[in-house]
Amino acid sequence: MISFNKEQIFIVTGASSGLGEGTALLLNELGATVVGIARNAERLNAMKAKCKYPENMYLEIKDLTEDIDGLPAYMKELKNKYGKFQGLAYCAGIVEVKPLQLLTSHEMKKLFDINYFAPIMMAKGFADRRINNGAGASAVFISSLSSISCSRGMITYSGAKAALSSSIKAIAKECAPYKIRFNCVSPSDIKTPMVLNDAAEFMKDKEKIYPMGYGDVEDVANMIVFLLSDRAKWIASQNYIIDCGVM
Ligand SMILES: NC(=O)c1ccc[n+]([C@@H]2O[C@H](COP(=O)([O-])OP(=O)(O)OC[C@H]3O[C@@H](n4cnc5c(N)ncnc54)[C@H](OP(=O)(O)O)[C@@H]3O)[C@@H](O)[C@H]2O)c1
Repeated sequence: MISFNKEQIFIVTGASSGLGEGTALLLNELGATVVGIARNAERLNAMKAKCKYPENMYLEIKDLTEDIDGLPAYMKELKNKYGKFQGLAYCAGIVEVKPLQLLTSHEMKKLFDINYFAPIMMAKGFADRRINNGAGASAVFISSLSSISCSRGMITYSGAKAALSSSIKAIAKECAPYKIRFNCVSPSDIKTPMVLNDAAEFMKDKEKIYPMGYGDVEDVANMIVFLLSDRAKWIASQNYIIDCGVM
C-alpha cells in the first residue's frame, strides 16, 4: 500500500478537472499535502470539497501560459509559501481537433504553450535543488497515446505530446544522477471532460475499439501516484502507455 505523510508536498497542475483532479484527490487520500493549480476557482473548490483531508489541500489559481518563462520563478514562490516539493504531477492540457488545411501557427502555438512549453518550464523549476526535496523527488507528466498513434485532425496535439515525452526523457537523464526522477504516462481515451465534452464529436463511436471500454480517471491516477512514490524509486525516463492493450 502506498502512503505519504503531510510533510511530503506535491504540486498537481490541472487539479480542477479530470486526471489532475483524480491525482490530487488520490495523493491527498494517501496522506500527502497537495498544491492544486488551475485557472477555474469554482472547479478547484469543488475538487477540494471532495478531499479526504481538506486541511492538506491548497489551491492556486493560475494560467500556466500567461508567463511561461516565469514558471521557474513561480515554482520558487510556491516553495517559499509551502516548502520544498516531493513531487510534481503535470496534468494540465488542452486538446483541439483540426485538419491540416485549417491550421494556423498562432493556434498551434496555443496548444504547444500548455502541452509542451509550460510543462518543460515547470520541469526546469522543479529540477532546481532549492525547490525539490532532493534524492527521491519525482515528477510525472501526462503525454498521450496520440503522441505515438496519431489520428486525423490531431496534428498539433500529437506533435506537442510527442515533443513532451521526448524532452522529458532527456531531462530524466540529466537529473537521474541526483536521484530526481522524471517519467511520463501516455493514456488513450479516459472518461474526463476533455474526452466527453471537448472532443465529443471526434470520439463518437470510438469506444468500441476498446475491449474494456474507455478508461476511468483512477486507472491513470493510480499509475501517476505510483511513479511519484518511493515504490518506483528505480524507474526514470519511461513513458507508460495506459490503453487496456489496444496498441
Ligand atoms: N482524457 C483523456 O482521454 C486523455 C488522454 C491522453 C492524454 N490526456 C492528457 O491528460 C491531461 C489532462 O486531461 P483531462 O482529460 O484531465 O482534461 P480536462 O478534464 O479537460 O482537464 C484539463 C485541466 O487542465 C487545466 N488547464 C487547461 N489549460 C490551462 C492553463 N492555461 N493553465 C492552467 N491550467 C490549465 C484545466 O483547468 P482550468 O480550466 O481550471 O484552468 C483542467 O484542470 C491533458 O494533458 C491531456 O492532454 C488526456
